[in-house]
Amino acid sequence: MIEPTRTSGPDLSGAPDWVSHRGLRGWVTDVARRVRPDRIAWLDGSRAEFDRLCDGMVARGTLLRLSPRLRPRSFLARSDPTDVARMEDRTFVCPERREDAGPTNNWIAPDEMRATLRRLFDGAMRGRTMYVVPFSMGPVGSPAAQVGVELTDSPYVAASMTVMTRVGRAVGEGLGADGPFVPCVHSVGMPLDAGVEDVPWPCNPVEKWIVHFPETREIWSFGSGYGGNALLGKKCLALRIASVMGRDAGWLAEHMLIVGVESPAGEKRFVCAAFPSACGKTNLAMLVPPASMPGWKVTTVGEDIAWLRPGADGRLRAMNPETGVFGVAPGTSRHTNPNAMEMLREGAIFTNVALTPDGDVWWEGMTETPPDRLIDWRGAAWTPGCGRPAAHPNARFTAPLSQCPSMDAAWEDPDGVPVSAFLFGGRRATTVPLVAQARDWAEGVHFGATLASETTAATTGQAGVVRRDPMAMLAFCGYDVGDYLAHWLRIGERLAAPPEVFRVNWFRRGADGAFLWPGYAENLRVVAWVLDRCAGRAGAIDTAAGRVPRHEDLDWTGLPLPRERFDELTRVDPAAWREEVSSHSDLFGRIGDRLPAALREAEEHVLSRL
Ligand code: GTP
Ligand code: SPV
Ligand code: MN
Repeated sequence: MIEPTRTSGPDLSGAPDWVSHRGLRGWVTDVARRVRPDRIAWLDGSRAEFDRLCDGMVARGTLLRLSPRLRPRSFLARSDPTDVARMEDRTFVCPERREDAGPTNNWIAPDEMRATLRRLFDGAMRGRTMYVVPFSMGPVGSPAAQVGVELTDSPYVAASMTVMTRVGRAVGEGLGADGPFVPCVHSVGMPLDAGVEDVPWPCNPVEKWIVHFPETREIWSFGSGYGGNALLGKKCLALRIASVMGRDAGWLAEHMLIVGVESPAGEKRFVCAAFPSACGKTNLAMLVPPASMPGWKVTTVGEDIAWLRPGADGRLRAMNPETGVFGVAPGTSRHTNPNAMEMLREGAIFTNVALTPDGDVWWEGMTETPPDRLIDWRGAAWTPGCGRPAAHPNARFTAPLSQCPSMDAAWEDPDGVPVSAFLFGGRRATTVPLVAQARDWAEGVHFGATLASETTAATTGQAGVVRRDPMAMLAFCGYDVGDYLAHWLRIGERLAAPPEVFRVNWFRRGADGAFLWPGYAENLRVVAWVLDRCAGRAGAIDTAAGRVPRHEDLDWTGLPLPRERFDELTRVDPAAWREEVSSHSDLFGRIGDRLPAALREAEEHVLSRL
């Protein structure tokens, strides 16, 4: 764990009587000695506590209370304009040996990294409260769950963690005297020394660090209060650290939604889909079937993270370790995601959206016509046509999944749900067909390994550039990506019935630059074909990109999509595909020797088919 633990000194952890874990008390004491907060507050996870935290933030100006009539028990936070998204260039994975982080992670030698962290965290919480947040990823007490404890000086993070994860007393009690937990330390990096005025969204303008030690399973985050940089249960624990746990124990931690789909005939299957950040996981997870597809039912299990393990029956089972959504606001509307809008009717925290004059929220795409006047995400007056977006492109909402009307009856089942199919998709304006099926597991892993997408506002840096994002895990795999792909291949070998694998692309554009595919609810037509393929029913034709449906293989009732447009959507152009495959060498070259032979062979098969 952290440094040598001095459990012999006095217990200064302020732990409540429901914590009997001496290691936990000792660790909290040690961190408190270093970061020197004014107060320590342990979270019990109750509703009253959430309300108290929010009231305190309203008093300090961190949160604005929205209209109790229009948006009951809901709040708006405006972040610092320099702290608006995940920072991949400030994210580090620090095993002892550089090669164990692999070619896709930033690495610094652990000794050097620890020295930096000592400097950064020395007195970092002066003048603030250190919240102790015991949390469980996965149902409390289930063998599939992992416990973390986040120490944070941000009440916004503390409150958000109680929505996103299972927090409090049951977790602390469940740890017993010596249960394992992942220590997570977070500071906004702005101590309140004498003369320093607090601000609504404290952060460190100069230094931001999101650091993982996969061997000792620790997380340290400094300088940012936003999303995945600061809510350490999500990307840091449930993906980067969990991927390492899964490598060692025979399971997978993935950046995937989990959705249940039932046909009018009553056949129900679960599908997992890996799409990079802001590429439509929440939308597909909460899909409402179009009116022209009566009898179809769609239910939500998860919308960002899936933990997958082979079940006793030889099938892969998927569990959602989270309890909340930290979802992209822009583009969310009654038309694109009615379930999310229902979930957000009350009890939500909105970050970096616009404020209406009557105390409600608005963002681009929420309604067709924007309100006449707004206060934008930075707090300035806004009118339509003023040339600035009203909401930040990575504005987000935080709400409990329990408020989402489409939740599946089994969404909290610790055994998870059986997975029939994987979808791998990204934003690709050209080249990649609407949908294509892999011929076998190895080709399916090759589909995932070579996934690429145009970058989005979910991460800082340039948006709209196509980059390889294997399994949508580029920023989230906590170990060498070549070893990770080998692990995927091995998991498949252990399954009696591995899921069918597909690539999808809702984002292909025509010559006029417009999306060719209507997307959203209509994506169910593609998923219906996927389920038919799983059942060995619908037809398909072979292409270099995989097996693609013919026009007659999809249900077109109620969607008058011109035939030529379908042809354009599913076309696999040999020259363009050859170029696509040759661009794989970018990633595969960097992976080098650790690239599994089966993926080289899959690559050669594609080339030979061309
Ligand atoms: P993270 O939470 O960042 O991991 O992302 P996510 O994959 O859950 O993203 P989300 O579902 O919130 O996607 C957000 C963006 O994708 C919004 O701008 C949506 O409007 C857009 N989007 C989702 N589905 C579709 C679709 O089928 N077609 C098109 N054109 N856009 C879509
Ligand atoms: C993502 O970027 O994939 C997210 C949002 O889900 S964050 O939690 O900020 O990482
Ligand atoms: Mn995500």
